[in-house]
Amino acid sequence: MAFFSDSVGRIKLSAAVAVTNKARELKAAGKDVIGLGAGEPDFDTPDNIKQAAMKAIRDGDTKYTAVDGTPALKEAIVAKFARENGLQYKASQISVSGGGKQVLFNALIATINPGDEVMIPTPYWVSYPDIVLLGGGTPVMLETSLATAFKVTPAALEAAITPKTKWLIFNSPSNPSGAAYTRDELKALTDVLVRHPHVWILADDMYEHLVYDDFGFTTPAQVEPELYSRTLTVNGVSKAYCMTGWRIGYGAGPEALIKTMAKVQSQSTSNPSSISQAAAVEALNGPQDFIPKHNLVFKQRRDLIVSMLNQAEGLSCPTPEGAFYVYPSCAGAIGRTTPSGKAILTDEDFVSELLDAEGVAVVQGAAFGLSPHFRISYATATSALEEAGRRIQRFCASLR
Ligand SMILES: Cc1ncc(COP(=O)(O)O)c(C=O)c1O
Repeated sequence: MAFFSDSVGRIKLSAAVAVTNKARELKAAGKDVIGLGAGEPDFDTPDNIKQAAMKAIRDGDTKYTAVDGTPALKEAIVAKFARENGLQYKASQISVSGGGKQVLFNALIATINPGDEVMIPTPYWVSYPDIVLLGGGTPVMLETSLATAFKVTPAALEAAITPKTKWLIFNSPSNPSGAAYTRDELKALTDVLVRHPHVWILADDMYEHLVYDDFGFTTPAQVEPELYSRTLTVNGVSKAYCMTGWRIGYGAGPEALIKTMAKVQSQSTSNPSSISQAAAVEALNGPQDFIPKHNLVFKQRRDLIVSMLNQAEGLSCPTPEGAFYVYPSCAGAIGRTTPSGKAILTDEDFVSELLDAEGVAVVQGAAFGLSPHFRISYATATSALEEAGRRIQRFCASLR
């Protein structure tokens, strides 16, 4: 009898984690490595948020809380949705978890039965298909391409819906492409979804605040109120508030779903850290002025890296609307050979040779379901990014 479960056999370790680990090993061995793999801001958590956490410790907020979040945090989340998204929720429609990832996990585990299909546009955040597989569901990939700026077309969405479809996972701005849907583009998709009342929408708004060039962020339940009763809107403090290590994410949706998600959480982790929840209250209710300041820096870095990539032989990179990722195509490098005689046949070969030759760690597109591409996270010091851009150009120029 096998010891490990069939369901765990269907999933893999995150490729971004694998690349980050390899870069760390090479660094420890003395190699000069620039890591562009990790998906987290290089900025520190703002001080007012840290102070709120220290106050929580001093005040004895150190006990179990309600499983799916303190009343204070739920109220702050209710206020956030009203203020920023024009969405009205009651506290009973909010679920708080240990990061956005746990919100997604709870929702999918609470709803998926064997055979249920979950539509996932490519390129996708690596955890979506694996959580679906862990739950016994079937991921159905919706192909996009450079030509559609990595966005799903209404026709492709319509064509993928079957009687077994349970969810569409919709992520804008996207990890890994940075693509974000305009209100009109989103409305064209919600018009399709309105015609299929059995399909639920899991809107992953984790990068909501990381948009550039005056891009106007919108979310499905806001653009199409008819979808409100079958949408789970997911967000968190990890990215915009530079709190990846604090582990607080949240979801808002119909009460029955929220209650069932809390049931899943009650038998796994129980409440997220009481101290992190107090910090998240301050993040959502406190000053928001550092967000545009960070975005100015992110936008400069995005423009820098896009321009440098487009000057590299064989690469082509659109300018994405948001997040802190770019997703260049390396189609022009496929079929070439490195000076040491290694053939580049896939994007996996490309990133592995780039790491060996130039010490630049990026993640292969295969991990995100769309090749031949690779993902760069530009949430890193501008000087390091510029040096990485030069090394990528040198590597590409060296291919024959
Ligand atoms: C698209 C997307 N959704 C959700 C998450 C999860 O965020 P958290 O760190 O809050 O679990 C991430 C983190 O990388 C992400 O990129």
